[in-house]
Amino acid sequence: MINVLKIKKDFPIFENNPSLVYLDSTATSLKPRPVIEKLVEYYSKYSANIFRGVYSLSEKATKEYEKTREKIAKFINGKKEEIIFTRNTTEGLNLLAYSLGRKIIEKNDEIVTTIMEHHSNFVPWQILAQESGAVFKVININQSGDLDLYCKNIKIKKSKCKMTMQNSKLINLNNIITKKTKILTLTYISNVLGTVNPIKEIVMVAKKINPKVIVIVDAAQAAPHKKIDVLDLGVDFLAFSSHKMLGPTGVGVLWGKYDLLCEMFPFNFGGEMIAEVFLDKTFFKDPPYKFEAGTPAIAEVIALSEAVSYLEKIGLEKIEAYEKELVQLAYQRLKEEFGKNIKILGEGNIKERSGILAFNFYNLHPHDVAQILSEKNICLRSGHHCAQPLHQFLGVSSSCRASFYFYNDKDDVEKLVEGLKEVKIKFKL
Ligand code: ALA
Repeated sequence: MINVLKIKKDFPIFENNPSLVYLDSTATSLKPRPVIEKLVEYYSKYSANIFRGVYSLSEKATKEYEKTREKIAKFINGKKEEIIFTRNTTEGLNLLAYSLGRKIIEKNDEIVTTIMEHHSNFVPWQILAQESGAVFKVININQSGDLDLYCKNIKIKKSKCKMTMQNSKLINLNNIITKKTKILTLTYISNVLGTVNPIKEIVMVAKKINPKVIVIVDAAQAAPHKKIDVLDLGVDFLAFSSHKMLGPTGVGVLWGKYDLLCEMFPFNFGGEMIAEVFLDKTFFKDPPYKFEAGTPAIAEVIALSEAVSYLEKIGLEKIEAYEKELVQLAYQRLKEEFGKNIKILGEGNIKERSGILAFNFYNLHPHDVAQILSEKNICLRSGHHCAQPLHQFLGVSSSCRASFYFYNDKDDVEKLVEGLKEVKIKFKL
């Protein structure tokens, strides 16, 4: 059982904003006290640079920083030396587009992504394809808001499909992945639709068609809400952000298979990523350090460890199940109250969704809806949510988005419903 009232006491923001209805955790999560305290601890007790000092304060800071690396490795079942600290998911994905993409992609190779990507997992690959003359393939979604990669019916011969182990649906990537596909990069959970993509099954099928395909996963919306096991998923790279999973802003994680990381060239050059520098040449450190040039976000990395502990204390399986229930309740209540006047994006498969609901309300502009809700201290995002190709595909320019985390409850759902009723009255609908 998730005890929301007890949990809320751990988040000082609720103490300072008692009427807050925070429905924008997809943009960034709130922070519990242990994370905030850890930031203060670093700055007040051992605020020194890492790796660079032989004095005890620096050694303590280095130890704490490396402790987070170990913790993150365990959190996703990777190895410590495979964890690179970045600024955020965006930087992790851009690092891959530069250090990996520019090394392996050649003219007429294929880069495959999906229409439901956040711009940060779309634009870097689109630009790379433009520069290199590679083919940029985009997987569409179906009316349910799922990736359009299931064999639709028996018209497709069974022999052409690959049966997956966990999922009884038949995934067909025959027209998508080919021998020319070098990179398949996709999100685990859509930041607009809440669709949870069957990554493990997709990887299995893709690698059967082309064992050399490198699979990259944007886990920005998955890591805060779902247990991740990179080995079980079978992916090659996975990126996520601290600030969406209770941690500080300014830190991201990029995990990659060690042999692939070794082959990649650094993305940034500078302090602490070098082994030796001569007038005419430079040798780099081994991963992960060769990808961490310059002084990193030390306090933030150290405090991320507390965020992981907090999530683990509650349990990611519990969090996932709780959010699923909450989002279904929200869906049901919004439909009961507003029927066809609320249009949920990708609503076909709502039972399988993560805690995200994007919608349009009557014909109102999403910014107007969000503005009026804001007057009641209800926070949700309006706009294209950095997913313009998806909105274009769905034939809308923008939407409102309510997203739920384990510190939300049924009361928040009711407040959203009440808030929308007021929007309706205000616009005389
Ligand atoms: N990627 C974040 C969002 O979806 C900022 O809102």
